[in-house]
Amino acid sequence: MKIRRSTRKDIRGMLAVAGRLTDWPQPLATELGYEHGFVAMAGNRMIGFVSVTHEEGLPVITYLRVDPARTRQGAGTKLVAAVLDEAKSLGAARVRVQAIGWTRPFNRMYAETLKFYEAQGFRVVKKHPVVVEEADRWRLYTLEKAL
Ligand SMILES: CC(C)(COP(=O)(O)OP(=O)(O)OC[C@H]1O[C@@H](n2cnc3c(N)ncnc32)[C@H](O)[C@@H]1OP(=O)(O)O)[C@@H](O)C(=O)NCCC(=O)NCCS
Repeated sequence: MKIRRSTRKDIRGMLAVAGRLTDWPQPLATELGYEHGFVAMAGNRMIGFVSVTHEEGLPVITYLRVDPARTRQGAGTKLVAAVLDEAKSLGAARVRVQAIGWTRPFNRMYAETLKFYEAQGFRVVKKHPVVVEEADRWRLYTLEKAL
């Protein structure tokens, strides 16, 4: 598995990886076009990607997706490590990510995402108010990792 910087030519592949998880709104292609990040490649096949933006100079991970058929093989860890290395080299003090940390009814994917970020050394710094949408409830968490 190789990690390299993403280019705009990777957007189609990123959408394919994201699409294997769930349906994504078309604006994702535009959003990814404005951000930068890294892709994980197994030969010619993209198996994951991460995109990053910044909020007032603080690096923020916006999307991280690994092909469901290729999880638990270290791709997510390597993609996040690339973001952390870059942030460090740019002099950032910490990296931030927002993730859905609590859902009712329980959603395994979101629970696992939180476990993944905690395994990377991110800590919850803020639990946002519960959002209610029809029968669904969820809470966004902000997590940060100091560099
Ligand atoms: C979360 C995600 C990025 C993890 O990618 P990955 O390549 O499988 O991660 P890694 O193999 O590097 O896992 C590193 C560690 O994270 C933790 N972890 C990863 N997946 C986990 C899971 N499903 N359950 C519990 N812990 C998990 C483990 O500690 C793991 O180490 P281990 O395999 O030695 O136990 C990937 O599963 C994904 O893309 N999920 C969907 C993301 C998503 O849509 N989330 C909701 C919106 S934010």
